[in-house]
Amino acid sequence: MRMTLLALALAVGAGASAQLHVGTSNVSLLLDAQPGERFEYVYFGPALAEADIPAIMATETHVDAYPVYGMDVCNPYAFAATHADGSMATDVRVESATQTRDEAAGSTTTRVRLKDTMYPFYIDVVYLTRDDCDVIETWTEISHQERKPVTLTEFASAYLPIRRGDVWLSHLNGAWGNEGNLNQEKLTPGIKTIRNIDGVRNSQNAHSEVMFSLDGKPDERKGRTIGAALCYSGNFDLSVNTDASAWHRFTAGIDADNSAYPLAKGEVFVTPALALTYSDAGTSGVSRNFHRWGRKYRLCHGDTERKVLLNSWEGIYFDVNEPVVKEMMGDIAEMGGELFVLDDGWFGDKYPRTGDKSGLGDWVIDRNKLPDGISGLLKAADSLGIKFGIWIEPEMANKYSELYDKHPDWIVQAPGRDPIYGRGGTQLVLDLGNPAVQEHVFNVFDRLMSEYPAIDYIKWDANMPIKNHGSHYQSADGQSRLYIDYHRGFENVCRRIRQKYPDVTVQACASGGGRANWGILPYFDEFWVSDNTDPLQRVYMQWGTSYFFPAMTMASHISASPCHATHRATPIKYRVDVAMSGRLGLELQPKHMTDFEKEFSKKAIETYKQIRPVIQLGDQYRLHSPYEGDGVAALMYVDEPRDHAVFFWYKTEDFHNHHYPRVAMDGLDPDKMYRITELNRIDDNPLACDGQIFSGAWLMANGVDLPYRHGMPYMSDYSSRVLRLDAVD
Ligand code: GLA
Repeated sequence: MRMTLLALALAVGAGASAQLHVGTSNVSLLLDAQPGERFEYVYFGPALAEADIPAIMATETHVDAYPVYGMDVCNPYAFAATHADGSMATDVRVESATQTRDEAAGSTTTRVRLKDTMYPFYIDVVYLTRDDCDVIETWTEISHQERKPVTLTEFASAYLPIRRGDVWLSHLNGAWGNEGNLNQEKLTPGIKTIRNIDGVRNSQNAHSEVMFSLDGKPDERKGRTIGAALCYSGNFDLSVNTDASAWHRFTAGIDADNSAYPLAKGEVFVTPALALTYSDAGTSGVSRNFHRWGRKYRLCHGDTERKVLLNSWEGIYFDVNEPVVKEMMGDIAEMGGELFVLDDGWFGDKYPRTGDKSGLGDWVIDRNKLPDGISGLLKAADSLGIKFGIWIEPEMANKYSELYDKHPDWIVQAPGRDPIYGRGGTQLVLDLGNPAVQEHVFNVFDRLMSEYPAIDYIKWDANMPIKNHGSHYQSADGQSRLYIDYHRGFENVCRRIRQKYPDVTVQACASGGGRANWGILPYFDEFWVSDNTDPLQRVYMQWGTSYFFPAMTMASHISASPCHATHRATPIKYRVDVAMSGRLGLELQPKHMTDFEKEFSKKAIETYKQIRPVIQLGDQYRLHSPYEGDGVAALMYVDEPRDHAVFFWYKTEDFHNHHYPRVAMDGLDPDKMYRITELNRIDDNPLACDGQIFSGAWLMANGVDLPYRHGMPYMSDYSSRVLRLDAVD
């Protein structure tokens, strides 16, 4: 690896200032890192021309780039600590700034070392940029040489001042079965905090990603927009403080409440990265930046198409038994699926997993249910020409498990108090800060994979929060490390697993969408968006989730009607069309499908395989948001050469003689001609546009005329259309 220390562009300007330009092709961050002076922020936005920088440095307001608590305590801060001598004041100046180029990786690392003016105490603010994506990853590394530990009480990964104006915040929140809801609101004076304190599942409610629309109400297609995603699996705090200053002051990092961290002399505390991006093309433009960066640099197997699978949960729940499982495997193979995943209910010996009250922790096959074990199922899968995957929840135990009988001290438990239970009234979280627990969790995975190397897919679940504070492993003065060490432990285990098993596909599930986060995705291929598979609600949830995550990460399954979560009945076409806009799968008992549903889904699977590269590896353009409340949602995917695209249109409300907006397309080449083909067609009469050839320019200005309803006998309240576009010479 060739690393070059660049002659730093610390061009010393007039007065004591030294420009530091952190840039990608289309995004610039301009800092002032004059040694001996305060570290200052100057600009973040579209790429700067080098020729402009001296004048910008001389004229733009400079503000703190990473404010610390101590000498300006009436203003917001990103960092606070209690030093070895008890002082709560920190005051730092730039000691050095370096930019290191890694030619092979096509990346540049910028490191600004800040030193306290009194103590041997250091904060390195680090920025990582890559040549081919418009995301800046930034984090801090904190260390010291003080006599005794320094207690860190606030330690944001990053701080970004955003000019006051008609600035709107977009963020996701929700609940079980209703994850990824999009919220958009204007920033007004006061502090807006987006925070998650679940301890384990950090995206079930709030999400650690946000966007700032700088030109008023967010628009999917236009407007200056900043995106920020904290890459961390644990508790977080993203706050925007709109105070009396000219700035909305944004901080993002680990939630420090109840997590004061005693930093030993010589230890380096590395905060999780905040991925920052900017686009002029509205919220959809920022999403594309995140998607491209994620697929290329963050997501496990981000360049590999995902298989079409059948997951057993909604089909049979805990009623796992060999003949039924084999029958389901046969059905998905017959429908053209590529993988079968056996969900919960397959394990437990002394405490069989017959429901959610027992068995977690005991990862041995329940021979009563599966006499031929996993080997038998793998053999069956192999003979059907499909792959096999399996569910685990390795971070947890049940009160009724051999694991808990043996290791009662492995659970998270307030010292001296009774355990607090979660799911089923018996579930417990294991204390992943404990190395013995890390070993156990690693072994759950390792044993399965080494015994059954043909396992192709693991669904890794986590179904309860940390409900009480306490660790048997940590010392009395280390109890505040509980949350941070849990997630360090989790990441250690994931890292070890990926070193040993780089190829297996792993899904992150956490009571549904509780682990949709860039912190975990280097180790996981995808996440389960929600336990709610109602296609109408999925239109909203998947829309929100796609703000930050690409389609290939979003497990999206066709399920039974009425939906088990909402009891809403929807036609098979609507269910299929919605599921196909993400990573397609099925979540039902195929033998309960009607022949028509089965045939329709079978054809759709075949179709999906053809358009999969566009959906999973292409760029997403969100066109008309369901959150606008106009009764329609539409989005499309376009491949990189802009030769192929897939357009999805869903009605979200149905009123007779109501008019729905016409949706223009996006992302096409205006000069290319595209042939339109309707996919998943259900009507007897083809659409007027089916087979017609239009220019990209026309389609992006006008879209195509779509009827509001399907013809009889397929008319229902749920209409949807999928169009394929192929460039023709
Ligand atoms: C969680 C998951 C589901 C399923 C069940 C199994 O609720 O979100 O998909 O795996 O656990 O118990």
